[in-house]
Amino acid sequence: MRLTEPVLTKRIPGCVPGINDGGTAARSTVSFAQYKATGGYASLAKALDMEPAKVIELVKEAVVRGRGGAGFPAGLKWSFLPQDDGAGHRYLCINCDEAEPGTFKDRLLVDFDPHLILEGIAIACHACRLDTAYFFIRGEYHHQAKVMEKAIQEAYAGGIFGKGGLMRRPGALSVDCFLHRSAGAYICGEETGLLEAIEGKRGWPRVKPPFPAVKGLFGRPTIINNVETLAAVVPIVEKGVAWWKGIGVESSLGGMPSYGTKLMGVSGHVNRPGVFEAPLGVKLSTLVNDYCGGMRKGKRFKGAIAGGVSMGVLGTDQFDAAMDFDIGRACNVLGLGTACPTIFDEDTDMVMVARNIARFFKNESCGQCTPCREGSGWIYKLLCRIEQGQATTADLDLLLELGMSMGLTPGTTICGLADGNNWAIRTIVGKFRGEFEKRVKPKFVPVHVSAH
Ligand SMILES: Cc1cc2nc3c(=O)[nH]c(=O)nc-3n(C[C@H](O)[C@H](O)[C@H](O)COP(=O)(O)O)c2cc1C
Ligand code: SF4
Repeated sequence: MRLTEPVLTKRIPGCVPGINDGGTAARSTVSFAQYKATGGYASLAKALDMEPAKVIELVKEAVVRGRGGAGFPAGLKWSFLPQDDGAGHRYLCINCDEAEPGTFKDRLLVDFDPHLILEGIAIACHACRLDTAYFFIRGEYHHQAKVMEKAIQEAYAGGIFGKGGLMRRPGALSVDCFLHRSAGAYICGEETGLLEAIEGKRGWPRVKPPFPAVKGLFGRPTIINNVETLAAVVPIVEKGVAWWKGIGVESSLGGMPSYGTKLMGVSGHVNRPGVFEAPLGVKLSTLVNDYCGGMRKGKRFKGAIAGGVSMGVLGTDQFDAAMDFDIGRACNVLGLGTACPTIFDEDTDMVMVARNIARFFKNESCGQCTPCREGSGWIYKLLCRIEQGQATTADLDLLLELGMSMGLTPGTTICGLADGNNWAIRTIVGKFRGEFEKRVKPKFVPVHVSAH
């Protein structure tokens, strides 16, 4: 692992170590003309010279792990698409829902370098023979929706999308790209909830299989990728697999590697919160001390949400955790998630943190699965009781039992939202149990009501 020149943020000042200013750098959206003048769309031209299957092979070789939360390799996902599926559209859905508390890294790319994303979209469409792209954007991203709408129009006018597009090459695929604004529910970021939402329905995740690659949007083959995943494909096509593999780290646990840089949005009790581009494998302590200018007011580190609230928390002794895709197994959290940690200092009340996170999951559960719908409400109520000093030790155990019994891992729910709730609660209680124990009574003492 080594520190690198900016890759995804090379046109965006202020995201790399040494010059980060917490987001106040003078930045403006890179236009189509500026993007092309600085080498933009050269990767698309290169990809168009290649057979589609070769582009998929390249992305597979580079082991580009999904940047939306699950870390699934993009090339492998792309290769699941059926070759021959009869007549009809084939879709790409770009996930820019970004509704998880603490996560705000895709927004940076949309705000300032939307054509990097559009170039990645065009490359993916060429590689996978997809003719329609839906850019699904978080409902609250009003400004970003306008920025992206304008960039899409520029890309149409510039010969990327539409009839006679993809760089105006004779016989090139005609790709349409639409912006779809979410109505604003976290569950619409789950890939099949997103498909339902684009189809105009309530964002209820679907039971899988069938997987979207086979039967996705409107029943047709569909690839769903995160914004940053698609953006990462652009420099890989430009500079090659060996270059990409030189950034990041191999797995120390015998698993899949974590190559490349990653956008990391750091929030919480640090001096300079912001989005930073760092090589995967960077230590959390380096991120806090070197990138973010240290802990706010010189306080001590107490813990951190690993990467979006659904990943769970890192404990006080895990400040040096390596921010790569091994973090789940290495540090007993769900995973790297979006790699957007929220930092807590020594004064943070972890019971309050747990209660606040539980409230989020209770509100955002779509209600299809009983363990998630009912369990999330009970977890919230129990945490309120603990916070108010009205709970017993038995309630603490009940809290953990409830958490552990809901999710894809115990096999009781349709989607991973419940696992997020489960991991958040079990890791906070597990790693900060002392704080919870101080707030509960040893046992419930019933009030004796005499008959006389
Ligand atoms: C409740 C929930 C919310 C999610 N929200 C997002 C999101 O906002 N953005 C995103 O890219 N992925 C989100 N995901 C993950 C997606 O389901 C999917 O794995 C991802 O978009 C695939 O893209 P990638 O392989 O490029 O990471 C969410 C998953 C769950 C369970
Ligand atoms: S786990 Fe929760 S959010 Fe996901 S489908 Fe079931 S009820 Fe809905």
